[in-house]
Formats: sequence, structure tokens, C-alpha cells
Amino acid sequence: MISQLSFYMKKLIYLMLLSVLLTACGHRAHITDMQCEHLTSPLGIDAAKPRFSWKFETEEKDFKQEAFQLRIASSIQLLKKNKPDIWSSDKKEASVSRCVYAGKKAFESHKTYYWDIIAWDNEQNKYKSKVDSFEMAKLLKTDWLAKWITDQHDQDFEPAPLFRKSFGIKKDIRSARAYISGLGYYQLFINGQRIGENHLDPGYTHYDKSMLYVTHDITPYLSQNENAIGVVLGNGFYNCQSKAAWDFDKARWRNRPRLLCELRITYTDGTVETIKSDNTWKTATGAYTYNNIYSGDQYDGRLEESGWNQTGFNDKNWEYARIIDDPSGKLVAQQMPAIRIVREITPVSVQSYGDNIHVYDMGENFSGLCRFRITGSAGTTFTLRHGEMLKPNGRVETGNIDIYFFPEKTGETIQTDVFTLKGTGKEEVFEPQFSYHGFRYVEIESSQPIKLTTENLTGLFMHTDLTQTGKFKCSDSLLNKIWHATNQSYRSNLHSIPTDCPQREKNGWTADAHVAIDLALLNFDGINLYEKWMNDFIDNQREDGAISGIIPSSSWGYGSWPGPVWDAALFIIPNALYNYYGDSRTIERLYPTMQKYLDYLFPQEKDGMLHFGLGDWVYYKSQTPNDYTSTVYYYSDYKLMAKFASLLGKDATAYYKKAAALKTIINERYFNAETGIYANGTQTALALALYMDIVPKEYVQKVAENLHKKVAGNDFFLDFGLIGSKTVLHMLAKYGYIEDAYKMAVKIDAPSWGYWVDTQGYSTLAETWTLSPQFRDASLNHVFMGDISAWMYNVLAGINYDEQNPGFQHIMIKPQFANELKWVEAEYNSTRGLIRSSWERKGDSIILQVTIPPGATATIYADKEYQVGSGTYKYVINNNKS
Ligand code: BGC
Repeated sequence: MISQLSFYMKKLIYLMLLSVLLTACGHRAHITDMQCEHLTSPLGIDAAKPRFSWKFETEEKDFKQEAFQLRIASSIQLLKKNKPDIWSSDKKEASVSRCVYAGKKAFESHKTYYWDIIAWDNEQNKYKSKVDSFEMAKLLKTDWLAKWITDQHDQDFEPAPLFRKSFGIKKDIRSARAYISGLGYYQLFINGQRIGENHLDPGYTHYDKSMLYVTHDITPYLSQNENAIGVVLGNGFYNCQSKAAWDFDKARWRNRPRLLCELRITYTDGTVETIKSDNTWKTATGAYTYNNIYSGDQYDGRLEESGWNQTGFNDKNWEYARIIDDPSGKLVAQQMPAIRIVREITPVSVQSYGDNIHVYDMGENFSGLCRFRITGSAGTTFTLRHGEMLKPNGRVETGNIDIYFFPEKTGETIQTDVFTLKGTGKEEVFEPQFSYHGFRYVEIESSQPIKLTTENLTGLFMHTDLTQTGKFKCSDSLLNKIWHATNQSYRSNLHSIPTDCPQREKNGWTADAHVAIDLALLNFDGINLYEKWMNDFIDNQREDGAISGIIPSSSWGYGSWPGPVWDAALFIIPNALYNYYGDSRTIERLYPTMQKYLDYLFPQEKDGMLHFGLGDWVYYKSQTPNDYTSTVYYYSDYKLMAKFASLLGKDATAYYKKAAALKTIINERYFNAETGIYANGTQTALALALYMDIVPKEYVQKVAENLHKKVAGNDFFLDFGLIGSKTVLHMLAKYGYIEDAYKMAVKIDAPSWGYWVDTQGYSTLAETWTLSPQFRDASLNHVFMGDISAWMYNVLAGINYDEQNPGFQHIMIKPQFANELKWVEAEYNSTRGLIRSSWERKGDSIILQVTIPPGATATIYADKEYQVGSGTYKYVINNNKS
């Protein structure tokens, strides 16, 4: 609380100083957070029509942007002289602070562009932003001068290929870029230095359809005279050499790793030189003897050729690389934060079992790797097994996560890295490069007796590094723990796609992602990640319109299983991106995919309904009929499709009609108006009908009351799976039963979130409500039951978007004051700016404080309804119940 307070104090002092400064300058505000393609000063983008956004910072109340003008120039000087040569939008009357490029000039590859914003507020003040920049990567395929290369081996050959090329530089360098794609993953070195903090790059895609490439600024790494590039390639999902349930070993794109790399060096005299991968590059194998995304890395230090990625290395024994055909049709710039090491974790304990086995407890479950430091004799091997649980004898248990992995290589097991010492007499440091694991415990087995301590091992929490946008805290420590565990599970499931779990599957299960989309976008700035992943849906779609339950997928998971509830991600996620960011690009891009998908579903209707697919997955005791849940999500698809068609100015009539018809069918088949019950009356069945707005108006309260009765009759215990976890708490709160929802949220006996994070002491959310030893198929790090975190923001803090004014242009603040809670504090850095909502009880009153960011408006539900503009507001609400 104290550190929180001091944070607010500092922020307050900063804003006061800012306000004094701005007033002194005669300005009320200034423009901040300028972004292009939702990235700050991006280096390698390839959008033909980039998007721009900005925010304002001010202490003033009711600040509104009335108009803006966006200007783009090919140099800073031109902008400063007010001569934007690329584009100057008209002065647009608008309160939204985002704009899509609509100029006539086409952007050129490799060029840097400069932009600024002129804005006018509601008091006719004029503001000018600083100048920001964005740099184009490669807009045309013909811009690539490099060739794809590989070595002489085939896909079954195990050691990772290394590539190197040396080259001289004679002139002064102004700037230099590396454009690189390496399948499955690359590690790039220049003059022996690893480039970038990215791990497991490029992101996972359907490699035969689209591949991502990454732009690195390599200016500081090059030197005058001699230089050397070195690249190592890992297999990743491109070349899975072991069998797992999802047929990656049979992927249609599977092949020996390959590389495309182009360095573009611009000299101070304006000339440009490119160093490009081709058959003059040399290749060999080295210490990376094996790698598999599910099992891990094997590295034999004895095979290291010292200096292989540096100048002066004698590569005469290396072979020449082989030029090969383009492995895919499309090369796409990776426009999202990379996978990075976000936190280093010190083990809390280490326990030895004899002279050769040590078991580490990292104290928390997370995704990533370990850095292992050790000194020892040449040839000593260390086998690091990673798991989430311990056996009764204290050794690592992987029985809950190894069920779908069927390795054929001797000794290969899930989540296991093997290091062999070079034996230099000095400390050797190992860090796997081409896999990641989900774990809390690490068991290290050494081939020689050894004494290990906590100093030898460091945990590396690693995931796609999205910026945290939300914070939630309240007087109930259990809810705070649940919020933390949800974040930990969400982070653990971000590896260039949103995944189901970081250990067993690492798959982009579609329903897992759509039920988690609100907690995702409230806690993290996720638009780039989801835009990339929605592009994967386009590549995933089959000719007949079908999409698979895991995306990407080469062939597995199509057909009537998993079905419409899972596939609904195709509609729900673009809609969420629109609601949270006010940005419709994904809807535009995916619209034809959605149409084709609905055309594919239509012939599968029976009596107007869909009778297949997974439903309320991993429900506790009560199953909700799958034909009901499938048809409800089918209805939701049409409802959203109608919205999208209207938004894009297309004819939406047929979609509205179909949505209305489906609603009627669902009500005819599943609703008993006399009892107010849907389907078999489970918590999920009732809450889903309310959540999807299926219930005829006059019955809404009756259905809500039934939901309350069902929950109260179950002693306020939850009884649902993934669909219920998204809907029950919200619907209880929405229709007047906040106390029921609260009681359910703070349970600590099974089944409950508290059972996981309190009773069991997990730092993450599990996959199933209870874990039995026989039920091996359950991870301890799934995020799909985590929507309770969104509920904390939406209901307890009351922060909500307004569908009619997306992108938090208008904000709904509607907190619910659960009796047991003393205070709540939440903030959310929306695309419009920082929203804050906090309340606390004081005697018979509740003091509510709300901050609305500059440029936005809000409806605040306190003692009554208030319509406000930007600023900070305080309300005293009488809570005397007598
Ligand atoms: C995954 C889930 C997924 C489900 C669907 C599981 O194995 O881990 O998260 O949604 O399968 O069948």
C-alpha cells in the first residue's frame, strides 16, 4: 500500500509540475505516446497504409481534441519547414486520436519517414507534437536480394546448421540493418556478438504460406575493415523431429532449417551495400547437437569451434551453403514485440538425492528456460528435466505433461536439456536457445558426482514481451493472488501466438484465446500479437472454409471437432480488438475469411442448429449440452458478422436476419418460458444465454434469478468449465447478484480459483478444477479459466469500454461494491490514456475516485449517473443500508 501510495504521489507531483509548465507555455496539454502500427518508432514495418495514434497528457478537466492534422515527410527538415512531402491529411474534425494513411504516394522500402500531429482542442488551442519516425522494411518481394540457403543435410539430420560470412567495410557507416528470417528459429551474431534480445525468432506461422522476418539495427555492431556474420538455426515448429500428438513431424512445410539474411549498409556518402545470403556463405555444424521444441536443447561444448562467428576464423573446412527455392509465398515483417527474457528467477531451494541428482525449486511456475553455470571436466553431462510437480519422493514428476509426446530418439524426454562440458577449467555457461519449457522444478542429473547450489541455476521467465497495461489491487488478498496467478499464466502462454500451456502442447488453441481475450487486453497491450495471430487464421483456412482448433496447424484439428465454440475466435477476437482499440483493420482483413467460414458451417446445420463440437470444456460436475453451446456461438458469429458488415459499409441484412432466426430457434428449442430455464439449467447454460443476449427481455430477470438459485443451491461453488468461467461471475453481477459472484470468487475449497492459488499454493491457474493422479492430462499453467481477472476490472473496479464508442473514447465506470471488500484500486492504460478507478469505505460512505484520460468522456455510476469529460472526480456514496 505504501509503495502504491508513493507511486501515486510521484505521479501527482509530476502532473502538477507538468500542468504548471503547460499553463506557463499557454498550453493546456501536450501530445504523447505517438505510435505507428501500434508500435513506438518502429524499425521494420511493411504496412502499405500504416496506422497512427497518439494521446494527450494534461491535468485539465474536460480536455477534448476537436480536430487534428497528420503530416508525413521524408525528412525532419521538411516537416520542420511545414512542407510534408509525403502526405498531409486535411484538418479533420474528430475527437478520436488515430488515423490511417490515406495519401496517394506509395511508401518505399528501407526508407525512414517522419510524422507529426497538429491538434486543436475544444478551446481552440493548437498543439504540435514532437516529430516521430517509422522505417519501412521490405514492401515488395523483389526488394530481397538475398537467397534462401541451407546445408547438404536432410530434415532428419540432428545437429543445427551454422552459417558464416566475412566481409570488409571501407567507408564510414551511416546506418545498417539486418533483415533476417531463419526457419524454425535463428540466432544472429555479428563479430561474435549476439544481435538483439529476441528469442525464438521469428514467430511461429504456417511457414508454407507466410513467414515472418525481423529487422535489426546493426549499426553499432559493425566495424571498419573486417566483419563476420554468424547464424545458427534451430528446428522449432518448422522441423519437428520427434512425434507429438499434433502431427508436426508430418507438417507439410517440414524441412531442414533454412536462412534468408540481408545486411543493408548505408554509408555516409549515401551509397548502399548489401551483404546477402547466397552460396558464398559457409556452413558447418557445431555444438548444438539436437533441438526439439517439446524436449529441449542438447549442446556438447566439446564440439564448439572457438570464434566460429567472428573475424579471423579459418572456415576452410566448412562447406559452401546451398541456394534453395523460396520455402513460402509470402514474407511478412514481424510487427510485434519479440519473445524476451522478462525476469530472472533465483531458485528458492535445492535438494540433493545422492551425489548425482539435484532438484531445484524455483518457487513459482513460469515459462522459459534456465541458465546453468558450472565448472567441471570435459565430457561431463548435465541433464536438466523440467516439471510442474514433484513425486512423493521429491523428484520431478512430468506425468501430467508428457502424455502427448512420443519421442523416438533414445533418452529423449519432454522438457529436458542436456549439456556436455568442454572442460576448459573455467566456468561454462549454458542457456538453451531453441526451445522453452513450462516448469517450477528442475531436476539436474550429472554424469559425475557433483555438488550444486542455488548459484548454479537461474530461471529465465521468457515470453512475448507485451507491455503491461493494467493493475488491480483490493482489500482481499485472495483476489489479489488470483489476479497475479492469471497474469503469470497469461504471460506463460505468450510465445508469438497465444497458447494453451507452455509445457505439454504449446498450441494456439482457439477457444483458450477467445475466452481469455478480455483479461488479455485489460492487462496487456496485445493488439500486435493478436493481429499477427489473426493473420494465421487466414493461412489456416482450408479451401472448403474450415479452420482448425489449433492455429497454426499443418493438418491436425480440422473437421467437426473441436467445432463452433472454438472457431468463434475468428469473430470474437477481431471484435475485441475493435472494442479495446477502436481499430477495425483485423475485421477488414478477416472479413472474407469469416464469410467463407460461415458458408462452410451452413450445410452442417440440422434443424437450423449445429450438433457437433466441444462445449463447456473441462466442466466440473455438470455438463451443458454441446449442441446448445455450439448453436449459441454460431448465433454469436452471425451477430458479430452483421456488426462487421455494417461497420464496413456492406449489406448486413442477411446476417441480421440469420442472427435473429438463430436466436428464435435457440429460444424455441432450449428455453422453457414457464420455468425460465435454458437447456438443462446448468450455471453455464443460464449464464451463457444472458451473456449472449438471447433471453427475451421480459424473461431476463427470471433467468438471472434462476442462475442465482442454481449458484446459491450449490453453496456458491462454481460448477462449470471454460464457457461458464467467462460468463457466470459477470452475469451474476450484472443482474443484481454481486454478493453471489463475490462468494464464488473467494472460495478456497475445490472447485475454485482459491483452491488453486491458496489451498494448493499454485502461482498459476490450472487446467482442471481438481487434479487427480490418474487424470494425467492436466497442466498447471492454463489461462482459459482466468476471465475472473477481467471481472475484477469490469465489475469490482467498474472499468468498461463502451461498444458504441470503441477504443475507450467513451468509458463506462460502473463499480459494484461487494460487501466484504474494503477498498479496490485499478488502473488501465487504455489506447486513449490512463483510466483509474478506486474506492474505499469510510464509515457509512464509499468514496469513489475516477480518472478519465484527456480526450475521452465517461458515464460514471456513483450515487447517481454522471456524464463527465476528462479529469479526476471524487464521489461520496451513502452506503447506509438502514
Ligand atoms: C488443451 C486445451 C484445449 C483443449 C481442446 C487441450 O488439450 O490444452 O486448452 O482447448 O485441448 O480440446
